Amino acid sequence: MSELTVRAEKLDAADELAPLRSRFVLDTVSDHAADAAGVYLDGNSLGALPANVPARIEDVVRRQWGELRIRSWDESGWWTAPERIGDRIAPLVGAAPGQIVVGDSTSVNVFKALVAAVRMAGPARDEILVDATTFPTDGYIAESAARMTGRTLRPVTPSEVPSALSDRTAAVLLNHVDYRSGRLHDLPSLTAAIHASGALAVWDLCHSAGALPVGLDEHGVDLAVGCTYKYLNGGPGSPAYLYVRRDLQDRFDSPLPGWNSHAEPFGMSQSYAPAPGALRGRVGTPDILSMLALEAALEIWDDASVAAVRAKSLALTDFFLECVTAYTEPGRITSVTPDAHEERGSQIALRCPDAGDVMKRLIDRGVVGDFRNPDVLRFGFSPLYVSFAETERAARVLGEVLG
Ligand SMILES: Cc1ncc(COP(=O)(O)O)c(C=O)c1O
Repeated sequence: MSELTVRAEKLDAADELAPLRSRFVLDTVSDHAADAAGVYLDGNSLGALPANVPARIEDVVRRQWGELRIRSWDESGWWTAPERIGDRIAPLVGAAPGQIVVGDSTSVNVFKALVAAVRMAGPARDEILVDATTFPTDGYIAESAARMTGRTLRPVTPSEVPSALSDRTAAVLLNHVDYRSGRLHDLPSLTAAIHASGALAVWDLCHSAGALPVGLDEHGVDLAVGCTYKYLNGGPGSPAYLYVRRDLQDRFDSPLPGWNSHAEPFGMSQSYAPAPGALRGRVGTPDILSMLALEAALEIWDDASVAAVRAKSLALTDFFLECVTAYTEPGRITSVTPDAHEERGSQIALRCPDAGDVMKRLIDRGVVGDFRNPDVLRFGFSPLYVSFAETERAARVLGEVLG
């Protein structure tokens, strides 16, 4: 055994989150020879399946839908699921209850949040800033939101935001963690700078919620969105969420005022009157099957704290970088993820010219990360289920493939 495999064993033995792994459906070492077992490092794209989800979905489909049918809107709590599950996500992103609703995709929630932010900022502010390195959907939606609201869209990198802000800025749309590099942006200081200019801050939490502390209330974030299929393990296409800070909710003027956000949805009035609170973020009938799969997936958080997850995430990513350095020829790959903990999300992104081919070969060997055009290998570390032994094995296989 090498020194690194011995270290991995010790780190796993001391890991307080290690027992949670058995609550996910994953390859286990007993299914395979230790070195042939798959290593899943793509939870930053699609989280693994929590073991309690299949039975929950079976119950939702067979009993709630099949037997109770329409009664389930009340009796099974279907109607209130968006706000109930929003309240379950709230502590994970540092929000008090009553500020998050679940539903729609992240893209749709980016649209709602950004247009609503521009409307709140008022007509004198004619510019929207967007992260120039953003996950593309946010940029596309921001461009359309700017066109629809008659504002100018200005793409800037997050570090350029403070100098780009002015009394013209209506809203700024930023990613908390960069999807490609894994860089964690400074949400507290950027939010403070945005507020100092009188603009509103809209944060995309796709790559941070469930992986690290966000502190939405503490830092006075105005609006935020995020997906639930990455570190929250809600399943493919599980619904996203929208946070609207409590004191802004009365001014939240949704660009998608569907009947689910009406003060009296069953009043069937021809004129729109918004519901109070976070409910204003709802649009149409919730996608109950996905939503209740997500609700089951979130139960793991009864036994895990965000602080413990963050500590393990940093330990895993530190250990991975150390193993990669040990197993790879110098200069063959470079890390594009910052070394500093305060600038690192829960993934490591490595750059090499043949990244596409390298990832194919890694996947053939059971190490599943992903490739981002043109030259980035991404490895996501989901602390609820990734072990140190797997981390060492992934780096070792990477070294062999690169060699
Ligand atoms: C930062 C970010 N925003 C948005 C999305 C996707 O949005 P949607 O849930 O609408 O597909 C992703 C997907 O990976 C993402 O990384």
